[in-house]
Amino acid sequence: MSKNTIQIFDTTLRDGEQVPGCKLNTEQKVVIAKQLDLLGVNVIEAGFPVSSPGDFQSVEAISEIVKNATVCGLTRAVENDIKVAAEALKTAKTPRIHTGIGTSDSHIKFKFKSNRDAIIDRAFEAVKYAKSFVEDVEFYAEDAGRTENEYLARVCEAAIKAGATVLNIPDTTGYCLPSEYGAKIKYLKENVKGIENAILSCHCHNDLGLATANSIEGVINGARQIECTINGIGERAGNTALEEVVMVLKQHPYLNLDTSINTKHLYGISQLVSENMGIYTQPNKAIVGANAFAHSSGIHQDGVIKNRETYEIIDPKDVGVTESAIVLTARSGRAALAYRAKNVGYELTKLQLDDVYANFLSFADRKKEINDHDIHQIIETSKVYQ
Ligand code: KIV
Ligand code: ZN
Repeated sequence: MSKNTIQIFDTTLRDGEQVPGCKLNTEQKVVIAKQLDLLGVNVIEAGFPVSSPGDFQSVEAISEIVKNATVCGLTRAVENDIKVAAEALKTAKTPRIHTGIGTSDSHIKFKFKSNRDAIIDRAFEAVKYAKSFVEDVEFYAEDAGRTENEYLARVCEAAIKAGATVLNIPDTTGYCLPSEYGAKIKYLKENVKGIENAILSCHCHNDLGLATANSIEGVINGARQIECTINGIGERAGNTALEEVVMVLKQHPYLNLDTSINTKHLYGISQLVSENMGIYTQPNKAIVGANAFAHSSGIHQDGVIKNRETYEIIDPKDVGVTESAIVLTARSGRAALAYRAKNVGYELTKLQLDDVYANFLSFADRKKEINDHDIHQIIETSKVYQ
């Protein structure tokens, strides 16, 4: 069976940049956009052009330099937003306008003080207007996660009638369970008239820690695009992490879902975004955290030294990490000590290892982690070495 390719829509520079307290300048955004293009993402959401002159400038600059990916600009369902986005995107090889409106009852009632039918009219008009500037128009139904499915299907139908090529179904508040989100995508796939003319896109937030699981359920149920950010950065608890969904699909080939991402660049771009944003990545972050390929307990270390696959489901090289780390702590065993000692130049006999290990344990009980310098000291001060 041939694999279905899932489009990766990166929104690090738009939704990701909405992290409280973070701001990237145009120069930084251009550097990141170039790397995203090299990484192989299909779409780069470069910003929200009408929001500020700086954002307009960034979208314009990114449109000029991106060679492969589609460049996308966000708008509300407002004519001026759309006109300004089209202007910012005018040099992009393949521009996309991403327009939309809130569709849940709370958005309709409290945000727009409007009604369901009027929202459908606005959705239709916004897509139609965007279509007068560019061929590729994506429509988002904000808060789709809490929008009743039947009504959501009507909104989607109107957007398709107006020419939308992609329908974004955001779980804006990160509320859905994976089963609910998957069922929503399935419902739309089966009930929206004209759905064969557009693709469904997952845009999940991580308020309950479910963004990756929801996006994966979405594509299993028929969506063909995932919107995500590097390191999962974004407003509140963040967005779906790009590196996570890409590696989930890669490590589960039986799903027959694939991406065009060059995974060897994942670690490098994670570092680049983290440095430029000034947000450090939690050590236990899946795929790109400092501890993602570090082993510290004796049982695990012994297994990994014998064969990496005992405790690793991903080859670190596949995501751009040079090698797994064997971290020496008081929980480490003889195998790990012998391995690290060998790396710094000591080939220990069994007898020597017993002696050095006893010295190591008393050292490790006083220090959290043993580095190469400590290993020299431990070995040189051990009985057998004196
Ligand atoms: O989370 C969301 O609903 C969004 C839309 C503006 C696409 O980011
Ligand atoms: Zn969002």
